[in-house]
Amino acid sequence: MKDFDLYKLVRENIKKLKPYSSARTEYSGDAAVFLDANENSYGSPVLLPSHSGEGAGARLNRYPDPLQWNLKNQLSKIKGIPSQNIFIGNGSDEVIDLAYRIFCEPGKSNVIICPPTYGMYKVCGNINDVKVKEINLTHDFQLDVENILEATDINSRLLFICSPNNPTGNNMNRIDIELLINNFPGIVLIDEAYINYSRQKSFLQELTEYENLIVMQTLSKAWGLAALRLGLAFASEKIIELFNKVKPPYNINLSSQQLGAKALTAVEEVNTNIKNIIEQKKILQEQLSQFSFIQKIYPSDANFILIKTNDADKLYQCLSAQKIIVRNRSKEPLCENCLRITIGNPEENQILIKSLKKYE
Ligand SMILES: Cc1ncc(COP(=O)(O)O)c(C=O)c1O
Repeated sequence: MKDFDLYKLVRENIKKLKPYSSARTEYSGDAAVFLDANENSYGSPVLLPSHSGEGAGARLNRYPDPLQWNLKNQLSKIKGIPSQNIFIGNGSDEVIDLAYRIFCEPGKSNVIICPPTYGMYKVCGNINDVKVKEINLTHDFQLDVENILEATDINSRLLFICSPNNPTGNNMNRIDIELLINNFPGIVLIDEAYINYSRQKSFLQELTEYENLIVMQTLSKAWGLAALRLGLAFASEKIIELFNKVKPPYNINLSSQQLGAKALTAVEEVNTNIKNIIEQKKILQEQLSQFSFIQKIYPSDANFILIKTNDADKLYQCLSAQKIIVRNRSKEPLCENCLRITIGNPEENQILIKSLKKYE
């Protein structure tokens, strides 16, 4: 993107904002007595250090590291991205919301999303009173580049691209994404929540190339940590500084920081799990193809499959009556009669197949 000026895209109030300065950010020495943050030196009478293992309880009475450097340094090694280019949010949902609050002027700016896609892009727009322009994917679930650029105007601040896309499961064409990053006048957010399951290369290595790019990932999927709420954003240092300025001071709690750091040591085991899930997906795809009421099984580069059935509502009801919950996406554009099925473990997948046999 030629002549890119990040600060032209930043809201005036955010540019002027004097961020909250926490007690722990102001002091960088090696203090022995902490009487600065109105914590409780007695700690919790229940969660004593001796109960918590690994000393976690010893610090539960103290505010955690506001910038999560330990976790970021580990992510940095795994992803090959400097720690200063990483932001950690309370789930990707916090990253999405912060992007709106930094770049979008309520009642004036607009963003572009490409349905059917992840629902929070639109919800966050509505919460922040920002107009959300919806340019549907093409019939083969690809980006409608021409119409996206046509819908873009001087008030367009964010473009959300989800690849692999939820709920369709496919990757967006790389050339289309590159074309959009080069021509969209605002920030392009590529949501790579499912990238670990994909054959497509991440855009992380492209960050140095594009100043208007934010790559989002999460520890909720391949890393199996949805409950910890650890969403990741990778971007230029300038963009990361803006996120740090606007986020709540202690947005990632200590348990999430410590458990996240522990989980990140198991790279090989996680890769084995990813392979197993992809293997399970193949088995499930084959087994699903035997049912005549399933008209289409869409190709998937994620840990879920989108299927088109003869009657999605009826099948959904039938499965939920058997206590199996899938996601009914049939009200989404281009997804008439479609259900989205997450790949479970072998037992769960076989329970699903048994139930489908009853439906037939
Ligand atoms: C595309 C996409 N992005 C983000 C998320 C949310 O991630 P997190 O758990 O980090 O908030 C989801 C969750 O389903 C998703 O499908």
